[in-house]
Amino acid sequence: MTIAIDGPAGSGKSTVARRVAALLGFLYLDSGAMYRAVALKALERGRALEDESQLEALARETRIELKAPTAEQESAGLKNRVLLDGREVTEEIRTAEVAQAASRLATIARVREVLVAEQQRAGQCGGVVMEGRDIGTVVFPNAGLKIFLEASPEVRAQRRWKEHQEKGESLTLLEVLQEVRERDKRDRERKVSPLVRAKDAVLVDNTAMGIEETARLIVFLANERVPSVR
Ligand code: CDP
Ligand code: CDP
Repeated sequence: MTIAIDGPAGSGKSTVARRVAALLGFLYLDSGAMYRAVALKALERGRALEDESQLEALARETRIELKAPTAEQESAGLKNRVLLDGREVTEEIRTAEVAQAASRLATIARVREVLVAEQQRAGQCGGVVMEGRDIGTVVFPNAGLKIFLEASPEVRAQRRWKEHQEKGESLTLLEVLQEVRERDKRDRERKVSPLVRAKDAVLVDNTAMGIEETARLIVFLANERVPSVR
């Protein structure tokens, strides 16, 4: 079984998907980390974020590995380790600057094709929880369970702001809210694979729900679809 979780920034996708994967013994895959890793490489190389053929070539020549975090990284709140061409970029890809660059890069159809093919390869054996923006609509349209995870923009920004605070970053709550709103707008309005709820996705609004409660609801829904899932 494949579980697809899509939704806007800060809705809890990574945290919840990771917990669902742990409860079911599934593999957890964060597709957003792939867009972020290619964006970081483009920024480091000074590539214009509009140059479609250059960015497609960059995506093709990039090796991204998603790994389980070390115990130390896990206790620091990291959900997965990301290696970019063999170099650890786990923390570097989590800045607001990289998030913005990732969302601009993600509007390019040819870049998406490269990353979607990799995501499909990574999830081809099932037993996977993958999260992102287009998992239920494009990457795994036949997923056994699709979740569209929502939360109010204010709560999502508050959650993200808290993470920045914990890392000692000085962004204000308003700046984070603006970053999240800007990215949501771009992700929802782009022509290729916009962020939309798949017709058959279950809408879960976790504005007033905790991580564990949300994860257990999703496991319950997975069990309903496939009773032997666990
Ligand atoms: O992946 P996404 O951007 O959708 O969100 P996330 O990185 O999983 O979650 C953002 C922050 O919200 C994390 O620090 C989570 O611990 C927190 N969160 C929460 O407090 N309550 C929830 N129900 C879900 C997430
Ligand atoms: O964690 P957060 O929800 O803030 O972002 P993310 O999941 O790491 O994704 C970063 C950016 O990559 C998003 O704003 C999207 O523009 C893009 N993305 C996408 O287009 N398709 C995906 N399947 C995953 C991410």
